[in-house]
Amino acid sequence: MIWTPFYDAVHGCSSYLVGDEVSGLGVVVDPLAEVGAEEYLLTAQEAGLRVAWVVETHVHADHRSAGRELAEAAGIAVSFHHRAPVSYPVHPLRDGQRLELGDVVLEVWETPGHTEDSLSLLVYDRRRAEEPWGVLTGDSLFVGDVGRPDLAVSSPEAAVAAASAQFDSVRRLLALPEYVAVHPAHFGASACGGIFLSRTPHSTIGFERRHNRLARIEDRQAFVDEVLRHLKPPPEAARSIRAENLGLAVKAGRSA
Ligand SMILES: [Fe+2]
Repeated sequence: MIWTPFYDAVHGCSSYLVGDEVSGLGVVVDPLAEVGAEEYLLTAQEAGLRVAWVVETHVHADHRSAGRELAEAAGIAVSFHHRAPVSYPVHPLRDGQRLELGDVVLEVWETPGHTEDSLSLLVYDRRRAEEPWGVLTGDSLFVGDVGRPDLAVSSPEAAVAAASAQFDSVRRLLALPEYVAVHPAHFGASACGGIFLSRTPHSTIGFERRHNRLARIEDRQAFVDEVLRHLKPPPEAARSIRAENLGLAVKAGRSA
């Protein structure tokens, strides 16, 4: 399996190139404008991969995505959760769908909470095992924290409902075997997490089950209360960045 993470430590954003060196097929998850479409294509090419999929784990509100540009350059459509309210043609993903790259497979899980259109992707390397090796958790389960539920909603009541959905998504992820590697979309300085977000970009299910202060709360109401209590101020340009990533606007500033 080819596994190339791209970490933007200044803004706390992670994206990933995952591929199968035998089939020559690759997927880029959450490509960042900060890195640029060309860089992903070049990295894939150097690894002997063709970018067959571009997947967004959700519509981002804290940074500009390179997804559309990268997908167009690769001659494909960006893949989103089937409920993502994107204004341009996309490839819709649903729970249980499998992206087959050869022996490397990504399995789609719908994990709403941070946004209604949040996804996680289980990563299998079938040359080694039939069990998942890792999970790309998007903005569901973070290292030390969980994705904030308030950036894509318009009322406090909707934020409570989103936090409750996040509770279910996090419980589902934590039920994976403890050795499964956790690779979220953010770390450190990101505005998509709360005050407990670690500067470490990856972890394991077992470590987060034991030591993630929010994720280990087993009572739904207590989880909702804690998540909403520890929010940072929303990023200033969240609305315009989200609009740009939805294809509704062409320019936005950078906020996180
Ligand atoms: Fe996010």
